[in-house]
Amino acid sequence: MALRVRVCTTGDVAEGELRGFAVHGVTWPVMVTRLAGELIAFPGVCPHDDVSLVDYGKLDERELVCRVHGYRFDLDTGRCEHAPGLHLRRYKITVVADEVWVDLL
Ligand code: FES
Repeated sequence: MALRVRVCTTGDVAEGELRGFAVHGVTWPVMVTRLAGELIAFPGVCPHDDVSLVDYGKLDERELVCRVHGYRFDLDTGRCEHAPGLHLRRYKITVVADEVWVDLL
């Protein structure tokens, strides 16, 4: 079963930009970035602790860095080099007529 929600439009996220979008009924915003033309979406909470990635997340090439403790998450694999037990989940994205939808489940 999938829970697909509309998050933004393709024009809302520029190359190399990291943005968070609130989704009605979802606790944490959905983070969206665009790297080498590819849209990437993931939850707006750090897997290390309940910290907002809207406030504390930043991009470093293809890694998401949480500025609270400096943990880095590979945006391709979700792996964290500092804590191998942590994983940044990526949402599946579907684009329909410039609207970006993600599968939360
Ligand atoms: S809360 Fe994000 S690295 Fe610790």
